[in-house]
Amino acid sequence: MPSTASATPSKPAPTRSPRAVRGGRALCLVALAAWAAGDATIGVAADAAAGRAKAQACAACHGANGLSARPDAPNLAGQPAIYVAEQLRAYRSGRRRHEVMSLVAQPLSDTDIEDLAAWFEAIRVEATPPPG
Ligand code: HEC
Repeated sequence: MPSTASATPSKPAPTRSPRAVRGGRALCLVALAAWAAGDATIGVAADAAAGRAKAQACAACHGANGLSARPDAPNLAGQPAIYVAEQLRAYRSGRRRHEVMSLVAQPLSDTDIEDLAAWFEAIRVEATPPPG
């Protein structure tokens, strides 16, 4: 009879990919928690000013004005609100997955998403193509 006494002791805890985003994620979650806790307001329509305040939680990666602060994060400035909102809903529902953004989007309410999308859309960007 083979002994089963030594059957798989403790498996190593599943680790998530140790990436440089960790610090950013922690920072972001703290910011999100703070704003979720204070979110007692009732939003009816998209409010870009409210979105601006909420977007402080995004600035570490997407930049203070929606121009990316990191090579792996896209610019959000000037993106149509409908696109930004759709992507955030997709991350929130799991239709679109990303190790950071899926977490970031999780606690967002529909109002948060509309406000954030309105803010990023409201930022004007100028494109200068290379000469030639
Ligand atoms: C820790 C860094 C980080 C933070 C904080 C962060 N993001 Fe992101 N975000 C990313 C990265 C990286 C991607 C690219 C993900 C991918 O490839 O799907 C991304 C993608 C997105 C996209 C999709 C853009 C596109 O062109 O499809 C949106 C929208 C977005 N983020 C919004 C936000 C908002 C709103 C916040 C704040 C509430 C936020 N992000 C906070 C890193 C971050």
